[in-house]
Amino acid sequence: MKNIYITTAIPYVNGNPHLGHAMDYLLADVLRRYMMMQGNNVRLQAGTDEHGSKIFKKAADSGMPVKEFVDQISKNFQDFIHSLGVEYTDFVRTTDADHERRCQAIWEKLSDHIYKDKYEGWYCEGCEGFVTDKEYSENDGTCPDHKKPYTKLSEENYYLRISDFKDRIREAIESDEMKITPVFRKKEFLNLLKDMPDVSISRPKESVAWGVPVPGDENQVMYVWIDALSNYITILGYPEKDISDFWPANTQIVGKDILRFHAGIWPAMLMGLGLPLPKNLLAHGHITVDGEKMSKSIGNVIAPEEILGKHGLIPFRYYFTRHASTTEDADFTWEKYEAAYNELANDLGNLVQRLATLANKNGLAGQQGELKDLPEFDERMNSYEFNFAFEILWKQIQDLNKRIDEEKPWALAKTEPEKAKDVLSDIIKTLLDTNLRLAIFLPETAEKIKEIFGATVIEPPATPLFPKN
Ligand code: MSP
Repeated sequence: MKNIYITTAIPYVNGNPHLGHAMDYLLADVLRRYMMMQGNNVRLQAGTDEHGSKIFKKAADSGMPVKEFVDQISKNFQDFIHSLGVEYTDFVRTTDADHERRCQAIWEKLSDHIYKDKYEGWYCEGCEGFVTDKEYSENDGTCPDHKKPYTKLSEENYYLRISDFKDRIREAIESDEMKITPVFRKKEFLNLLKDMPDVSISRPKESVAWGVPVPGDENQVMYVWIDALSNYITILGYPEKDISDFWPANTQIVGKDILRFHAGIWPAMLMGLGLPLPKNLLAHGHITVDGEKMSKSIGNVIAPEEILGKHGLIPFRYYFTRHASTTEDADFTWEKYEAAYNELANDLGNLVQRLATLANKNGLAGQQGELKDLPEFDERMNSYEFNFAFEILWKQIQDLNKRIDEEKPWALAKTEPEKAKDVLSDIIKTLLDTNLRLAIFLPETAEKIKEIFGATVIEPPATPLFPKN
């Protein structure tokens, strides 16, 4: 049994969870269940990123005290994660006193690599980020995401000297000591790394009051990345506790937009602290709706609850783990969702109903599944191609449907009842074997299948697993 640590990105609490946020959690949960099935001891972290002026302003707009506001949204994220059937072991909030204290200790430990400098240039309030002159002219002075003109900024900031670590970061990525999946994102990042500047890690208190104070400088607060990235180790107790039982993380899951912070700034911090790098960074794609980026201005934002409310959790997990690629962008449309639901109902729902009815008629006793070797499945899972791994299981389910159609056990029962029983029993056994892995993706359904075909008297469920409307 190995200790395995899996992490997810911590979302900003400037708004409620949206469909895109589901991806981090579903992928982490699939990996967690797979690792647990192999007998490992798995820790899964989740959390919320709660500082910064954007959140501060949102709270002010809502008329709530900022602490109450972040408490509420953080709670909404926790409920959201549970609603996806995802179980985390640790939840970290960047406003937790433990996190803030540990974060300051981390800053102090990094002090040899931190310097103060004056920043003069462009800034996007929406992104809460600095903009290079090149980006400024490419975007004609206006942020393409926030449609707001960049503002001129001149202020003192602390910087993390990324240049101290660049060569070692490159080596670690090239040698797969810290493996980035998918490979095309690894290449993309290695190109970026060349020109990666030192990063600003603080803001003057008068610009951003809602943040962790910089130790030893009452005029500055931490800005985004040191505060946010350290969550992965502060939740384990660093630096007060020895974290070597679970660190380095086995897999850190992030969306493609924040890979560069995790592949660049984060390893620099870890190297500065003398800690090992995570073994894997998995960058997933984004969810689009009708082929477009979800955005309030386009008006195509779909609340996850709307999809969950339609057919429940299992079809949601089915769609986003089988029909969404683990690493590429994935599109959601209601048509595709309905088609996926019909597949679930036809391929799996019908199979269970037919098989249980036949088993009942032929007086078959319940059985249990057995986890047989399936190297091609492991290969897909280990290379973070979860959707392809799922595909292998689905093919097995479709093959069972074919077998029933071809071997016609109901006809056989009239002429050779013993043979009919053998055929049915074998089909049920195969389904139960597959079902053990199906539990990684569709846990509730797998549980029901196990109950139905494990019972002393097999009986078809009163309502099919996936009723047609
Ligand atoms: N707070 C930072 C992360 C800090 S991690 C130390 C952040 N927050 S976020 O709310 O903007 O994003 C949280 C996660 O959701 C990220 O992994 C991001 O890539 C992911 N997604 C945001 N929109 C998404 C989609 N449309 N589709 C899939 N994932 C998306 O970044």
